[in-house]
Amino acid sequence: SGASGARVFQLGIEAGETRFKDGPATRTWGVNGAYLGPTIRVRRGDLVEFAVRNDLDRETSLHWHGMHLPAVMDGGPHQTVPVGGTWRPRWTVDQPAATLWYHPHVHGSTADHTYRGLTGLLIVDDEVTDALNLPSEYGIDDIPMIVQDRAFDGDNQFEQRVPLGGSLGVIGDEILVNGTIGPHFDVTTRLVRLRLLNGSNARLYNFGFSDGRRFSLVATDGGLLAEPWETDRLYLSPGERAEIVVAFEPGERVELRSYPSEHGGTLGRLEGFDDLLDICQFRAAGTLSDTAELPATLGAAPDLAGQAVAQERSFALASDQINGQAMAMDRIDFGVREGTVEVWEVTNDNGYLHNFHVHDVRFQVLSVDGGTPEPPLRGWKDTVMLVPGKRYRLAMRFSDHTDPNVPYMYHCHLLQHEDNGMMGQFVVL
Ligand code: C2O
Ligand code: CU
Ligand code: CU
Repeated sequence: SGASGARVFQLGIEAGETRFKDGPATRTWGVNGAYLGPTIRVRRGDLVEFAVRNDLDRETSLHWHGMHLPAVMDGGPHQTVPVGGTWRPRWTVDQPAATLWYHPHVHGSTADHTYRGLTGLLIVDDEVTDALNLPSEYGIDDIPMIVQDRAFDGDNQFEQRVPLGGSLGVIGDEILVNGTIGPHFDVTTRLVRLRLLNGSNARLYNFGFSDGRRFSLVATDGGLLAEPWETDRLYLSPGERAEIVVAFEPGERVELRSYPSEHGGTLGRLEGFDDLLDICQFRAAGTLSDTAELPATLGAAPDLAGQAVAQERSFALASDQINGQAMAMDRIDFGVREGTVEVWEVTNDNGYLHNFHVHDVRFQVLSVDGGTPEPPLRGWKDTVMLVPGKRYRLAMRFSDHTDPNVPYMYHCHLLQHEDNGMMGQFVVL
């Protein structure tokens, strides 16, 4: 605790070495360690303060992805931390329980800095969710899973070169979960909640289990769904999160995998869309403690559909640009009015994979190509995958935190695209 009553978190960004596999160690970056960073837990209502120290040899930043907060605390490209410097953002957490995350956001270097290892989970808790009795013992039946792909060169260093003809950046053939290749998890309870983060720069995952078992999606980016949705497959594009609950039988073994994408078109072999990947093996003990039952109802459904819309805007993503313009640090694209609801229509116009992330707000997907969105898009989102050619209508309300000078970002979360300019800036007035 700080003098002012804030909960203070010390975060040191540093370079180090990590042993992912036999042979030489890999040069990596991490937060309070050599690779990745700690899971940070905050509560709705907390005043939080972070002391972010940069011990790297170049400036970087930490952005709180999914957090509703003042723009000047956002950790975007305008809040870089100089070499040797400490940045102290603080704000009051005011949003429902959700699985968020943090990563660097230096314009032009986000892909590089994130790839080296600067990523961690940022979990928001609240009383409503505590009362639900979901599996919630961290590391026992509530498991963080930062899923990343990495390519290694002959010296075990992270490969940064993009393959010839690759449009997405580096696609790795090794999958890491929380920094481990080929991990397994020892299951001790019948129900397990997995907090999945697609922490990859570009790779799309189509999660499913090797025996085809069904699981329940309980939360998306911005928090709980209204009710669990049962499925055997779940897509997550870069930056998206999902909380799923899986049931296990004593003694069984099952593999969480990523299956080939069913989104065809130009999403081809080169980009890894037809890969079948092992993510993590689950090994259940001979007896499992019977903990929580999955509740039939969960959180409050998004409620923006019937609201008065103050402004509509459209965003066409193509060729590393949005609406034909590349990101410029000194150009603010528009201002939104505090307290109003806007509808943003977003399209992916060039056939490659893109997604769309908006800072500061959670949004509701009103429709996809005019139709009701699939269940995984019916909860609160802050990042949405854009299937080529489809039209996504997103509703969002901008509340408090006005600042005419400091912008928030919206962008494709395939980090190479973002670095290349598929990003824009808005202010809340
Ligand atoms: Cu996860 Cu603008 O970022
Ligand atoms: Cu973000
Ligand atoms: Cu993109």
